[in-house]
Amino acid sequence: MQYVTILGSTGTIGQQTLDVIAQHPERYGVFALAAHSRVDLMLQQCAQYQPRFAVMQDAEAARQLKQCLAAEQLPVEVLSGVDGLSEVAAHEDVSIVMAAVVGAAGLLPALAAARAGKKILLANKETLVMAGQLFMDAVKQGQATLLPIDSEHNAIFQAMPRQSYQALADVGVNQIILTASGGPFRGYTQTQLQEVTPALALKHPNWVMGAKITIDSSTLMNKGLEVIEARWLFDARPDQIEVVVHPQSVIHSMVSYVDGSILAQLGNPDMRTPIAYGLGYPDRIASGVKPLSLIDVAKLEFEAPDTQRFPCLRLAYEALAAGGTAPAILNAANEVAVAAFLQEKIHYLDIPCLIERTLQSLPVETVSSIEQLLAVDQQARQFVEHALAAQAVSPLRKVASV
Ligand SMILES: NC(=O)c1ccc[n+]([C@@H]2O[C@H](COP(=O)([O-])OP(=O)(O)OC[C@H]3O[C@@H](n4cnc5c(N)ncnc54)[C@H](OP(=O)(O)O)[C@@H]3O)[C@@H](O)[C@H]2O)c1
Repeated sequence: MQYVTILGSTGTIGQQTLDVIAQHPERYGVFALAAHSRVDLMLQQCAQYQPRFAVMQDAEAARQLKQCLAAEQLPVEVLSGVDGLSEVAAHEDVSIVMAAVVGAAGLLPALAAARAGKKILLANKETLVMAGQLFMDAVKQGQATLLPIDSEHNAIFQAMPRQSYQALADVGVNQIILTASGGPFRGYTQTQLQEVTPALALKHPNWVMGAKITIDSSTLMNKGLEVIEARWLFDARPDQIEVVVHPQSVIHSMVSYVDGSILAQLGNPDMRTPIAYGLGYPDRIASGVKPLSLIDVAKLEFEAPDTQRFPCLRLAYEALAAGGTAPAILNAANEVAVAAFLQEKIHYLDIPCLIERTLQSLPVETVSSIEQLLAVDQQARQFVEHALAAQAVSPLRKVASV
């Protein structure tokens, strides 16, 4: 029996992880569930999965959960705050940690799991975007096992020589090919993009995901964050990572070898496949995902991404090339800009404008510590918040581009 902590259990990935775990009660037990503030869903999950701990990042939500659990006579210990998340990620009785909190908030608990030598199923790409080198060092020092859950990186991991963390050239790899669906606005003109609303952007053509990653997918920032993630996971140079738009989302990514072979991983777009791969690794376990019918798919298409209409991908490559704290600035500016778009405070095309302006305005430093990265994250958030406040007196799109 292996005990699992799920960070972000109330989210899309968290719920799908619980779905896979429920298919293998003889193999996995739920040790801890952790989320931000959704008490009602956490209570339901506690009743169903009976974890030893439940953590709410928000202190008031933790207080409410405690009351509800007592009323239902459920013997679950409640913790709160980022310390609570880190505690259940590093607990000695835990073997597997699913890191599926959204955004920069996922960094410290994922780091705690790495330092404690856990098997980490990493869905929270922001951890590697913000702190790639420091996180990979912690994985090595803590002798943790790191398994990528992002479907693209999971596909690459599967198509790489097994367990190889050697330099790509030493294992005959030429290039990593990340596929992108292109999002719901692939064929849109610049004029049509100006009219995009949150409701429209929240409809992804192939995947069911949380709000932030769905918007990131539509702007291609998600692909940009994945380029940075791939750089650290596979020790790849930026020029060894190519992005190809593949609207069917059937090939989840590919690895190109020096002999001309390209290995791909295919499947229906359902995150339970990479989740089951991570939980079972090195074994294969059932996921509940319908097998892919190539006859039904019939055709697979590919095209180059358009970084003119979708500048977020270009901005991510530029942040990666700048190095140091630039990816952390990119990530923080993106999180605040996406939240502002979802609250209808800015237009869709303001998102890349705000990120670019933040990257151009803040100094890039060499990374020295997690504390420094957290400070840079705060500084970038404040910079965007100030730009947003200035918009209260000016037309939004103009302010973002000054
Ligand atoms: N969804 C996908 O298909 C997919 C695919 C690849 C990678 N990912 C990555 O996986 C991560 C999760 O994505 P998602 O789609 O599952 O997101 P989501 O549906 O929005 O869920 C986010 C989860 O994180 C929790 N959370 C948010 N802020 C938190 C905080 N400050 N402290 C602690 N917990 C917090 C939420 O709790 P509450 O419910 O209480 O707010 C929720 O459980 C993201 O990094 C995303 O990029 C997702």
